[in-house]
Amino acid sequence: MNNMDEKLFQYYLELKSPEAGVWNTSPQCIHTEMKTRDYIRKSFAITEGMQVCNVGIGTGDWDDYLGYWIKDKGNLTSIEIDKETCEIFAYRQAREGHPNPSKVICKSIFDPDLPEGNFDIVTLIGSAINEIGEFEKCLDSCFSLLKQSRYLMIMANLKYSPFEVIEEYIRKTDHLLEKHDIYDDFPEYPFYICKIKK
Ligand SMILES: C[S@@+](CC[C@H](N)C(=O)[O-])C[C@H]1O[C@@H](n2cnc3c(N)ncnc32)[C@H](O)[C@@H]1O
Repeated sequence: MNNMDEKLFQYYLELKSPEAGVWNTSPQCIHTEMKTRDYIRKSFAITEGMQVCNVGIGTGDWDDYLGYWIKDKGNLTSIEIDKETCEIFAYRQAREGHPNPSKVICKSIFDPDLPEGNFDIVTLIGSAINEIGEFEKCLDSCFSLLKQSRYLMIMANLKYSPFEVIEEYIRKTDHLLEKHDIYDDFPEYPFYICKIKK
């Protein structure tokens, strides 16, 4: 086994490890993934040549889905600060034969050299908004990636990223909250998904 295959094998094992497996196999996790995937496909039209960007790869499951969703029409770019995460994600997509692999940019969302005004949709999903920190600066950077009048989609846990903070941010900007939905089927893991127009 070469070094990257060994790392990939460890990545697969980690997903099923007792620690990660508790969450990954839970109805709460499956519910958030299902709702989030369903939300994007119902809330956004796929257009010819569309450019989508996800910020924060993590396990890369969301990026995999986005690539399939826009396959044949558009391209995905994934921005991720962690070099190891970027390498294993790009290698895994190649090894698994993903038909529309993401272009990985291994940089912080705060990097001054990110492409500006380039994307039709930017997504910020799960714990990304919390992990990245510097909430307003993070949203400013996400919006600067977008073309004018295009969309940021955020999905986050209500307990760790209260929706009021998003509302307060929007009040201070010219952006428009077009849609937001609260999901509390599992009250111990309530989350929201919203669509904000630049
Ligand atoms: C836990 S993941 C969640 C993302 C994924 N969408 C999900 O739902 O599984 C958050 C990712 O954000 C990345 N991250 C943290 N700070 C960042 C930054 N400043 N710029 C870009 N990515 C960052 C972390 O390395 C991590 O891979």
